[in-house]
Amino acid sequence: MAKIKYQTPSGMHDILSEDYAYYEKVYEIVNDIARFYGFGRIQTPVLEDAALFEKSTGATTDIVEKQMFTLKTKGGDELALRPEFTPGIARAYVQHGMLNMPQPVKLYTYGPLFRYEHPQAGRFRQFHQVDFEVFGEESPAIDAEIIQIFYAILKELKFSHLIIEVNSIGDSQCRPYYKKLLANYLRPRANSLCADCRRRMRQNPLRMLDCKEEKCQRIKAQAPQIIDHLCDSCKAHFKSLLEFLDEADLPYHLDPYLVRGLDYYTKTVFEIFSDRTVQVVDEQGEIVQRSALVGGGRYDNLLKILGGKEIAASGAAAGVERIMAIMKDRGTLAMEEAKPRVFLAQLGDLPKKKSLKILEEFRRAKISVAESLGRDSLRTQLGRADKLGAEYTIILGQKEVLENAVVVRKMETGEQETVKMENLVDELKKRLKR
Ligand code: HAM
Repeated sequence: MAKIKYQTPSGMHDILSEDYAYYEKVYEIVNDIARFYGFGRIQTPVLEDAALFEKSTGATTDIVEKQMFTLKTKGGDELALRPEFTPGIARAYVQHGMLNMPQPVKLYTYGPLFRYEHPQAGRFRQFHQVDFEVFGEESPAIDAEIIQIFYAILKELKFSHLIIEVNSIGDSQCRPYYKKLLANYLRPRANSLCADCRRRMRQNPLRMLDCKEEKCQRIKAQAPQIIDHLCDSCKAHFKSLLEFLDEADLPYHLDPYLVRGLDYYTKTVFEIFSDRTVQVVDEQGEIVQRSALVGGGRYDNLLKILGGKEIAASGAAAGVERIMAIMKDRGTLAMEEAKPRVFLAQLGDLPKKKSLKILEEFRRAKISVAESLGRDSLRTQLGRADKLGAEYTIILGQKEVLENAVVVRKMETGEQETVKMENLVDELKKRLKR
């Protein structure tokens, strides 16, 4: 066989129609829940100024440092394919003066994102997220609402055994002190850390807590915990968040080392896992990471950095492919093939020409019809109608066209009746009702 010349780029996939049904199922539930909780849909461009992500996601984060697809336009602008939604939505909030609207402003979106990762299970270079953001609300009630929303989405998708990991990473009051404390703890142990963590120790020691290397995990286990060093206002915020989660019966678990790999977070951070979560496996086949379905948190400083005022904000995103992988694995979505109620069989040139108009009349009447316009044999077409489970087949031959009529065949019994063309849709409506 000849070698296929062009294929999808590494880590990027075509979504074929059988898979698209999963995406649609997820988006249907997301739209319903978003509407219920008062979120408006936003769509931002796939390309943004690369500097937007450097400033928000953080210049030294893996996402910006290693994973961004960037390009230079003919005009010399440096753009990036969005690796996440949050910076673009925050930019839109500032750019469109949403600050002057009644607060909080609640926005959601879904669509493709791009990260230059090492492709593996649950980790792609083009993937999809569902993302919810709330601007202009400081209360931990909103953090809890976002957690509840993602929990509800997963529950509606029939996920059980969900684990919500939460932590607080403080704010610009208390975090610098904790960072120093952590750096002091790590410095004498630097030789036992991986190369990445030795670098992180200088740039952002917090990220060391995120490291999946076993030797770093051992050191992490004895490290001071940020939760013990929060300032009073962060402590009170976190305590209140946990009370909201308790009251809402959301089964959370405290993870004092959860920091998340993005720079903009303040106070609340959280992730949601399923006990069936896809694992990320390294080249040797070792499981290196349980991959989260959902990640998010509060980011009260970002809007100011982007040129807005000091606006509190909070949000989260779920990876659609990771959700789908579990749905597929479980076989939860028994894929219902759209079953047509009527089949249109045509015999010869003239009937074929009439077919498109008839199909359109059925579409307007909202009656599902299948056809096989490329086939001419009646036997083949009736066989297909049977296979698809159509209740009636309309047979249109030369004679019928000349008489301005059609034959309606009841598939179950084989009974046939001739019906005037102008009465066809009404006749079928009646029969399908019975
Ligand atoms: P994130 O943790 O980078 O957060 O991504 C959120 C989710 O997207 C992950 O939990 C995972 O399910 C999915 N995901 C991330 N990278 C990939 C990939 N390469 N392949 C497949 N799925 C992936 C954010 O993006 C933040 N913007 C979330 C947020 C919104 N925080 C506040 N608001």
